[in-house]
Amino acid sequence: MLKKKKIKFSEIIINWYNKNKRKLPWRKTKDPYKIWVSEIILQQTRISQGTSYYLNFIEKYPKIENLATEKEDNILKIWQGLGYYSRAINMHKTAKFIFNEKKNIFPKKYNDLIKLKGVGPYTAAAVSSICFKEKRAVLDGNVLRILSRYFKINDPINSNFGIKKFTKLSNKLVSESEPGNYNQGMMDLGSTICKPKNPLCDLCPLNISCESKKEEKFNLPNKLKLKKNKTRYLVYLIMKHYGKYYVKKRLSNDIWGNLYDFPHIEFKNSKENTDKNILIKLKNMLKNKDIVINQKVSINYKLTHQNLNISFVTLTGNIVFKSKKFEIVSKNKLMSLPVPKPIENFISNI
Ligand code: ADE
Repeated sequence: MLKKKKIKFSEIIINWYNKNKRKLPWRKTKDPYKIWVSEIILQQTRISQGTSYYLNFIEKYPKIENLATEKEDNILKIWQGLGYYSRAINMHKTAKFIFNEKKNIFPKKYNDLIKLKGVGPYTAAAVSSICFKEKRAVLDGNVLRILSRYFKINDPINSNFGIKKFTKLSNKLVSESEPGNYNQGMMDLGSTICKPKNPLCDLCPLNISCESKKEEKFNLPNKLKLKKNKTRYLVYLIMKHYGKYYVKKRLSNDIWGNLYDFPHIEFKNSKENTDKNILIKLKNMLKNKDIVINQKVSINYKLTHQNLNISFVTLTGNIVFKSKKFEIVSKNKLMSLPVPKPIENFISNI
């Protein structure tokens, strides 16, 4: 009797991918520069938001030399609204490095890619497998969800032990002949079928042998609880000097590094954040004798690891700063600078 050949996990994924893959702009190319750009953008960003940024970025910088020779401020302006601005700063550094030191040749191998600034195991695996067919598995939230559910693995995906276990397993499963299609199949299956809530198991090619499906229990993957996010109280001071605005480039060691914002004060808690305390601090910062708060608007803004309470305080009169570390710019110039999202929202209304 003929024995029925058991179809491998990777073949199931590749067959499914060939029939169901999403049409995405970066799937028309194997240019490692473009794949790298797409993977960096998609690291912390949903496809629905990331696609227009990708298209815009590639239109502005179609080749690595275009990115390498651009000014950082202009790259950050293109990135404005995407968040995690260090991604763009690192991409710029890496583009300059490849252009100037690597004869403009993009590295091919995982072990070389991973040495680049801003490139971690995920991006190195994606670029080397998609562009050069290196057998490397990507491991992101989508892949971890499929693997933990299919094999019923309870180890937390953010523990050292869990990361090692899932890395080993995923590198065992990845296809030898089509690692790029396998990886992209896992990404697509995770985001369209094996969804965090209400997975569409009827459409899943793995449903017959999935451990979670057998039990109809989809509470995996497990995650260790991390510390609660802290709240920072920022008071932005909207100050004009003969119709122009005071601004400053942010330092690179805090949120929104290298973007521009208004002068600000920070308080540790909401109790300290009073008009009286703002005026006391302002007296030390300004040459003006009479300082009048014209308006104060407050919003809450969430970053991944911090909650921000932001107040925008508008002052009346011509303001003169004691410190010379601020630039004074027109509204037009202000609009052309890369700024954090809440500042962009605020200045679109002034
Ligand atoms: N998420 C991150 N990279 C992706 C890719 N290449 N295709 C689809 N989703 C992704």
